[in-house]
Amino acid sequence: MNTAAVQSRAIELPPLPFEQSALEPVISANTLKFHYGKHHKTYVETLNKLIVGTEFADMPLESIIKETDGIAEHAAIFNNAAQAWNHTFYWHSLKRKGGGEPPADLKKLLDASFGGVEECKKQLSSAAVGQFGSGWAWLVQEGGKLKVTKTADAQTPLAKGPKPLLTIDVWEHAYYLDYQNRRVDYVNALLDKIINWEFAAENLSS
Ligand SMILES: [Fe+2]
Repeated sequence: MNTAAVQSRAIELPPLPFEQSALEPVISANTLKFHYGKHHKTYVETLNKLIVGTEFADMPLESIIKETDGIAEHAAIFNNAAQAWNHTFYWHSLKRKGGGEPPADLKKLLDASFGGVEECKKQLSSAAVGQFGSGWAWLVQEGGKLKVTKTADAQTPLAKGPKPLLTIDVWEHAYYLDYQNRRVDYVNALLDKIINWEFAAENLSS
C-alpha cells in the first residue's frame, strides 16, 4: 500500500518573516511571542485536528477556506483555516522600518483610488478602529481600483474576493499587551512605521 496516499499533509505554521523583536517599539517581541507563538500556532494546530479524515485533509489552505466559507457545519474548520491564513498575510503586511512612500506602481493606484496615500491610511485607520469587536482591516483590489474594507472575526476577502493586498489584525490579542484598550494608537503607529507597502505592491494584479 502506498502510505503517502493515506497520510494527510498537515497544514504548516510558516515562519515569521522577521525576528520577534523586529517590529519594536510598535509591536513588542512579547506580543509577537504570544500572537505568533500561541494564537497563530493554535489556529494551525486546531485546523489540523479538525480536518483529519475529512474531505479537507489534503487541500491547500486557500482551498479549505473557499470550500468551507458560509457553510454552517464547517464553521470551525473555516474559522481556524481563515485565521491561519489571515495571520500569515498579516505578518507579511508588516516590516521593520516600514511605512513611508509606497512603490511607484502602488502609489499611482493609491493616488487614483483615494486621492493620495494619506487618505488611504486614514480610511485604513477608520476601518481598523471602527471594526466592532474582533476582526481585520484590509486594503483590497477590485478591478482597477483599490478599496479599504473590514471583516469580522475570522472572515477574509480571500474567500469571495476582492483581492487582498495587505491587512491589519484588530483582535485584542494583536495589541493588548502593548497598548491595552488603545487600538487607535496601535493602528496609527503600525500605519506610520511598520506597514509593508512593498508587500501590497507585490500582491497587485496586473
Ligand atoms: Fe491575531
